[in-house]
Amino acid sequence: MSDGKLQLAVLISGTGRSLVNMQERIAAGTLDAKIKLVISSRGDVAGVDRARELGLETVIIERRGLSAEEFQQKLTNTLVEANPDLICMAGFLSLWHIPDDFHGRVINIHPALLPDFGGKGMYGHHVHEAVLRAGKVVSGCSVHFCDNEYDHGPVILQRQVPVKPGDTPDDLAARVFEQECIAYPEAIQLFADGRVKLDGLTVTVS
Ligand code: GRF
Repeated sequence: MSDGKLQLAVLISGTGRSLVNMQERIAAGTLDAKIKLVISSRGDVAGVDRARELGLETVIIERRGLSAEEFQQKLTNTLVEANPDLICMAGFLSLWHIPDDFHGRVINIHPALLPDFGGKGMYGHHVHEAVLRAGKVVSGCSVHFCDNEYDHGPVILQRQVPVKPGDTPDDLAARVFEQECIAYPEAIQLFADGRVKLDGLTVTVS
């Protein structure tokens, strides 16, 4: 940690809403971290504009047009060079095979209560549609360590919301996102405070 602050790299592929939320919390002094680098797997998304408007160093590594290996290599090289304390996926839609050196340093937020409603293709409205189709009365969000499967590693923390009668996927998404805006900064602050330990598949928050 330089400056005594947890240095973050944030990986995005879309609107960057979670990224903006993190930076707002940092600016407000309620999240003791610094976003060192933003990496987007798409150049044509609002998240890139938002990141740059916020004055954050932003690198585009286009997934399209690269082989899986080329993308993997570029992303890994960029992250090795930046050497952040923690890598936060925030609406990052590409699979990255996490090198051993980064084990325990890569986290994600998912808009459902994992291990349910995760996996390939389970993002955005697809998640909320599936929760409603399954007739669940509770949903929420999960911050979890990443492994090499989509939405799969050990959970660090979750927040729940009710599913209300007549909810549309958009209604539920909005209710869950409010909780995501609390959960992700809370989880990152736990790392900043050295309170999260990963031992095998077991997460301990002290
Ligand atoms: C968040 O809802 C999070 O649950 C998921 O991606 C969303 C943020 O992506 N992982 P974006 O900022 O809307 O692109």
